[in-house]
Amino acid sequence: MSSNKSDRDRKIAKAGPYILRVDPGRYLWCACGRSQTQPFCDGSHTGTSHLPIEVEFKASTRVAWCGCKCSGKAHLCDGSHNQLSEAKAMAAKRE
Ligand code: FES
Repeated sequence: MSSNKSDRDRKIAKAGPYILRVDPGRYLWCACGRSQTQPFCDGSHTGTSHLPIEVEFKASTRVAWCGCKCSGKAHLCDGSHNQLSEAKAMAAKRE
């Protein structure tokens, strides 16, 4: 997990993945962590340095969407949430 400039306006939406079954189609994954419709974009990234990532599924699929916004695999949970400090994880739970 890095702490570059763009990390400063990124929020941890959840200290773990959103595991959801999705229908075929296109989805916009929230990369800024500010959306109220996690794990999907609601436009709240406006004014941040983040843009949502478009993901397309051709078939119904079970997806572990990254909630911590720190994954090295973009929208997919890669376990990076296990690297979050306890303080950051607690702050994410309170928000
Ligand atoms: S929730 Fe982000 S890596 Fe698991």
